[in-house]
Amino acid sequence: MDTNETPAESARALRIGDSAPDFEARSTIGPVKLSGFRDRWLILFSHPADFTPVCTTEFVELARQADEFEKRDCNLMALSVDSLFSHFAWLRAIRDRFDVEVRFPIVEDPTLVIGRAYGMVAPKDNDSATVRTTFFIDPAGVIRAMTCYPANMGRSIPEMLRMLDALQAIDANEALAPANWQPGEPMLRSPTQDLDEVFGAGDETAWFLRETGKTTGKGK
Ligand code: BEZ
Repeated sequence: MDTNETPAESARALRIGDSAPDFEARSTIGPVKLSGFRDRWLILFSHPADFTPVCTTEFVELARQADEFEKRDCNLMALSVDSLFSHFAWLRAIRDRFDVEVRFPIVEDPTLVIGRAYGMVAPKDNDSATVRTTFFIDPAGVIRAMTCYPANMGRSIPEMLRMLDALQAIDANEALAPANWQPGEPMLRSPTQDLDEVFGAGDETAWFLRETGKTTGKGK
């Protein structure tokens, strides 16, 4: 542990498999409670600030792809330190300039209480802006994956959709998603735990590298 850290900074970071901490806050669609979004997937993501170039491109693209997230039973929820009225003004500017309405909620977190609970604020940064953290939360409220990008790099929306597809296909097929997996492609089965199957396998990799047949998922 870094001995210069305060106890709050050294609090255990959220990990895959943790329950997503609940919160209530004001948002652009009215008051929201995280646990009110159970029974569907939820992508909760932070952005550094409203009215900034990279963030604007992310929101335009996410709004344009909103139907793709909906098709996968997934809600989007954004969060930054900016005020609700800043969010409104930014969404109005995005609508007027790009002809796209951002209809998913953007939460205000002026005290950073949510951002800190989710580890979205880099403790060593000089300002309080949240970095580009993304949490993939399953219908039971469990964090299943997370990514963290720096302020100067925008997220890939196709990769967000691919991650959602992969997580859903893992559950639906009780299988593993290999590198570069795309919906419709074969997945992998867990390695056998039976020594007889290891010795009886057709070749030296067949007992641990085993493809499934056709897989199903919402993204396809
Ligand atoms: C951006 O969204 O463009 C941005 C935000 C904060 C720092 C740097 C870039």
